[in-house]
Amino acid sequence: MNRHLISAADLSLDDAVAILDTAEELAHLAERPIPKLPTLRGRTVVNLFYEDSTRTRISFEAAAKRLSADVINFSAKGSSVAKGESLKDTALTLQAMGADAVVVRHSASGAPHRLARWVSGSVINAGDGTHEHPTQALLDAFTMRRRLGGPDGLRVTIVGDILHSRVARSNVWLLRTLGAEVTLVAPPTLLPVAVDGWPCSVSYDFDSVLPASDVVMMLRVQHERMSDAFFPSVREYSRRYGLDGDRMALLPDHAIVMHPGPMNRGVEIAAEVADSPRSTIVEQVTNGVSVRMAVLYLLLSGSREHDGLGEHGVAEKDAEKHAAGNREADKPEAGKRGAGKRRAGERELVAAGGNPSRPRTGARTRGPA
Ligand code: NCD
Repeated sequence: MNRHLISAADLSLDDAVAILDTAEELAHLAERPIPKLPTLRGRTVVNLFYEDSTRTRISFEAAAKRLSADVINFSAKGSSVAKGESLKDTALTLQAMGADAVVVRHSASGAPHRLARWVSGSVINAGDGTHEHPTQALLDAFTMRRRLGGPDGLRVTIVGDILHSRVARSNVWLLRTLGAEVTLVAPPTLLPVAVDGWPCSVSYDFDSVLPASDVVMMLRVQHERMSDAFFPSVREYSRRYGLDGDRMALLPDHAIVMHPGPMNRGVEIAAEVADSPRSTIVEQVTNGVSVRMAVLYLLLSGSREHDGLGEHGVAEKDAEKHAAGNREADKPEAGKRGAGKRRAGERELVAAGGNPSRPRTGARTRGPA
């Protein structure tokens, strides 16, 4: 991985495990009285959202703020984009303002890739068209790991509108890297033509794959991206591809039900399933903050000359130097409540930056079978 996070397919196993391990370390921060680290103090993170979003934008904002970065929220509505400004000119404006990271969501697949050519900071893809949504896949993998171990060896079934889902694409690539077995379930009209080349299997029979699934990930039907009718009726879709209580009963006892949100209750997922103890939907939101903190931390606290999560040794040394600087910067605050805790948290975090003694995904034990 270079200094950007544009596609889950670009993540090596080491990169992905480093992000998940760092997120695990950072998740403990939320339990502290002051859930904040000074690590990205003085850095600027811009949230550049050209598409509607609730949880992803808020999640990135919370993640950046917990690392003490300055956050600028930019939404296309009400900006010069509404006056016809191009992505390039917006990018050059952000560049001139000294953005260290640009978190971008755009309806055009490939927009983050273009943006990365125009800005010198890190570009993080927060969802581009029907292409990818790598931090969603990372938070999903993190949730699986916390609940069940793995994802190495887990059997993950992803169900619904695969054709329009960047979440499905990113999950297929990341889960392959992490050693999970993925099965996609959808009506033939909601599967991409190129799905034969993806590292996963395909089934049209939801009921038959449920007994062999450790994880079922339900996806929303993305009506806003559809120009045609892809199935006869919502009722028909729901009957064949929706997860209700009866279908959930076909799952093994340990299996979990995931959904990236926003959900259409009663369409792809029944309320009794969404609110059941198997559902990880709310945990996924919480985990999203830890994972996005890990991504920002690993991309931004390393050296500009040695970009990349692949060079953990270098990133770790830089992070240590940065942490030492912060400890100095923290001195005047030493007497304040929580200052000591922040420094302690930071030491743990530095230790998490690629320490080979930290558990790897494959080393985790599986939950009850
Ligand atoms: C997803 C997205 O935007 O791609 N949501 C999210 O990021 N939590 C999925 C969706 O919109 O259905």
